Amino acid sequence: MELEGKTVVVTGSAAGLGNAMIRAFAAKKARVIVSDISQEKVDEAVSALSSEGIQALGMACNVADEKQVEDLFARIVKETGRLDVAVLNAGILRDGKLVSVDRQTGAVKDKMSLQQWQSVIDVNLTGVFLCAREAAASMIGLQSPGVIIPISSVARHGNPGQTNYSAAKAGVASMTRLWALELSRHSIRVAGIAPGFIATEMVLSVMNQKALEQWQQKIPIGRLGKPEEIAATAVFIAENDLVNGEIMEITGGVRV
Ligand SMILES: NC(=O)c1ccc[n+]([C@@H]2O[C@H](COP(=O)([O-])OP(=O)(O)OC[C@H]3O[C@@H](n4cnc5c(N)ncnc54)[C@H](O)[C@@H]3O)[C@@H](O)[C@H]2O)c1
Repeated sequence: MELEGKTVVVTGSAAGLGNAMIRAFAAKKARVIVSDISQEKVDEAVSALSSEGIQALGMACNVADEKQVEDLFARIVKETGRLDVAVLNAGILRDGKLVSVDRQTGAVKDKMSLQQWQSVIDVNLTGVFLCAREAAASMIGLQSPGVIIPISSVARHGNPGQTNYSAAKAGVASMTRLWALELSRHSIRVAGIAPGFIATEMVLSVMNQKALEQWQQKIPIGRLGKPEEIAATAVFIAENDLVNGEIMEITGGVRV
């Protein structure tokens, strides 16, 4: 797909990988829409972009809320008359072990709470489902080709301490494949990205210096990824009409 003049929305794009994607799509002269959970975050991001000469529309949306997601996609079509690329990127972490055991006594001292499980499933799995559903319905309604790019994670293979997150990201990878099979006949491609460990707030805020160094040693290229490296992959998927039904693992060689 040629991106110039196309409408591209990225969920969770006030910060991190999503924000880097907005910049990468804007550099291709696409019309970019910053969406994030609060109006305040959206406004801040839009004005920061504007000060760098990047024009973006801002639309707040909690991806876990069905009505807000329906409204977001209706608004995109109403205000821009198109929907060409939807990157389903919003996500959260609520890490913890399934059960934590006291090393000395052998007693169970903590468990992953249902709330901890459900909050991640709501945003990272249900949020992707709702956004993909509304994006696909909008693209079909407009009768124009589209690309849906769900963001999974290398944790989809099962990362200790991330029962909730790994389950959601495995679900995202599975849905990506099946949506490509369901939607190709409507000229909609679906292909996703499973990033490794990328230097964003999500990773840096939960890792202390020691954990960071340990992880860097495990990454064959010896460093965390950069948000721009994931953003470049999103642009590649959008531009290359042969990419469909794949999850691209962009990790510097690390496996969990
Ligand atoms: N950073 C990494 O190493 C890494 C690795 C693998 C996958 N990912 C995935 O990439 C995506 C982006 O991660 P990031 O590192 O940029 O995280 P981040 O925390 O820096 O940014 C996530 C953004 O999503 C927004 N968000 C959270 N809940 C939301 C909701 N309910 N509705 C709308 N927006 C919401 C946040 O406000 C934030 O702006 C996530 O899906 C994450 O799971 C990140």
